[in-house]
Amino acid sequence: MSQHRQLKLGVALVGVGNDQFGWRDPELPGDASVSIDWFIENARLAEAAKFDFVFMVDSPFITPDTTPHYLNRLEPLTLLSALAVSTSKIGLIATATTSFWEPYNLARLLASVDNISHGRVGWNVVTTGLEGAAKNYGREEHIDHAVRYRRAHEFVEVVKGLWDSYEDDAFPRDKENGVFLDKPKQHALNHKGEFFSVAGPLALSRSKQGQPVLFQAGISEDGRNLAANIAEGIYAGVEGFDDAVDYYADIKARMVALGRNPEHITIVPSIQPVIEDTDEAAWARVGDRQEKLDFNKLLVGLGRPFGYHDFSQYDLDAPFPDVSNLSLNSYKGNAERIVKRARDNNWTLRETVLNQAERRHGFVGSPQTVADEIQQWFEGRACDGFNLWVSRPSDFKKFREQVIPILQERGIFKTEYQHDTLRGHLGLPVPENRWARQAAQTLQAAE
Ligand SMILES: Cc1cc2nc3c(=O)[nH]c(=O)nc-3n(C[C@H](O)[C@H](O)[C@H](O)COP(=O)(O)O)c2cc1C
Repeated sequence: MSQHRQLKLGVALVGVGNDQFGWRDPELPGDASVSIDWFIENARLAEAAKFDFVFMVDSPFITPDTTPHYLNRLEPLTLLSALAVSTSKIGLIATATTSFWEPYNLARLLASVDNISHGRVGWNVVTTGLEGAAKNYGREEHIDHAVRYRRAHEFVEVVKGLWDSYEDDAFPRDKENGVFLDKPKQHALNHKGEFFSVAGPLALSRSKQGQPVLFQAGISEDGRNLAANIAEGIYAGVEGFDDAVDYYADIKARMVALGRNPEHITIVPSIQPVIEDTDEAAWARVGDRQEKLDFNKLLVGLGRPFGYHDFSQYDLDAPFPDVSNLSLNSYKGNAERIVKRARDNNWTLRETVLNQAERRHGFVGSPQTVADEIQQWFEGRACDGFNLWVSRPSDFKKFREQVIPILQERGIFKTEYQHDTLRGHLGLPVPENRWARQAAQTLQAAE
C-alpha cells in the first residue's frame, strides 16, 4: 500500500547567517559558524523536532565582503562526522563541489561519514559559481559553465562506481577458516573518461543505506539536466509558488524522459520564515529590517552571482547595465534571472538592487499563516518540503514549537521517525550494488 505523502523538512544550519543582521541577534553566539557546540545543539533540536536532515551549504572562495557565515565556517564533512556521533536519526547532508575535488577523495570522505553515521549521509552536488575559487586550486581561470557540468556528470559516475567497490557480503570475516575477504567480491572501477582516470577499488564498503543520497543545486538548463540524471534530492532555487510549480513539473518530466521514477526525488526550496504571534507583527519586523538595510552592502551582494562584479562603478539611476556576458560563467541561472527581470521591467540599477532585497519574503506571519503557506506549496506540488535556513534562534524555536505541531495535526508531517537512514526518511530505495546485480543477471540468464 502506498503511504500517504509526507512533507520533508531539512534545516540548513547557517550559523551567523547570510544577511546583514543575523549575526547581531542577541540570542545567537557571535561565533556560531565555527562553534561545534552550536551545531550539535541545533542538530539535536532539529532531531527532537523530527526534521529529516540537516544541510551544510559551502563554497571554496571568499572576499572581505563575503556574508558572515561564509566568511568563517567549519568544513562540512568534518563537521558532519561530529554530528554523526551526537545524533542518531536525522540525515546529514554536505555540499561539496565537483569542479575542484578529485572523485576518489570525495568518494572516500562521504563513504566514511556515511558509515560513521550508519547510513544517514547525503551529498549536495554543486559545480561552484564563484570564479575566484579557481585560484585556490591552481587554476588561473574558472572552468566554463558547460564544462563544469560535463565534469560533474563524470565525477558523480566515478564516485558512484567507487562506492560499489565491495559487494555487501564481500567480508565473511570467517575467523575459524581464516577468510577475511571474498576476493571476487572486491571490484576495481578502471574508469578512464574525459576528466578522470580512476582505477579503484575504494577501501571502504557500503553503509546501511547502500550509498549516500545525491542532492543537487543549480538552476540553469545544464543544472536541471544534471538533477534529472543523478539527483535524489534537489536544493531548489525557485522564486515564488508559480515558478516552483513549473520547476517541479519540469524536473519530473525530465526524469521520466530519462526512464527514471519521478517519485525518487525530494525537491526542497529554502525558506527563512519570519514568525511572530500575528501576521501584522511579522510584517512589521520585515519592514523594520528593510529600512535598516545598508544599500552599499546590497550592491556588493548583487555582484556575487556575477562573479563578485563591482556594480558600484555604474550610475545607480541609469538603466540596469549590460552585464549579460558576466552571467555566463558564474551563478549562471541566478544571474540570468536578475538580468531578465531588470530588462523586462526597465529597472535602473537602484531598483534592481532594492527588488533583490525584497524578493526573499514569503513565509511571513503567525505560525498558522506560515503553516498554511507550507501546506499550500506542498499540496500544490510546488515542492516535497523545505530546507529551512536556521540562524535566528527565536524563529527556529517558533518553527519547531508552533509551526511543526500544526503540520503534524494536519497529518502532513510525521510525529515519529519511521526510519534511521536518510534514504529511509526520503522514501528512496537502497541502490543495488552494480556487481551483485550483474552477477544475479548472469545467473538468471544461465538458468
Ligand atoms: C539553491 C541553490 C543553492 C546552491 N548552493 C550552493 C552551495 O552551497 N555551494 C556552492 O558552491 N554552490 C551552490 N550553488 C551553486 C550551483 O552549484 C552552481 O555552481 C551555480 O549555481 C551555477 O549553476 P547554475 O547556473 O546551474 O545555477 C547553489 C545553487 C542554487 C540554485
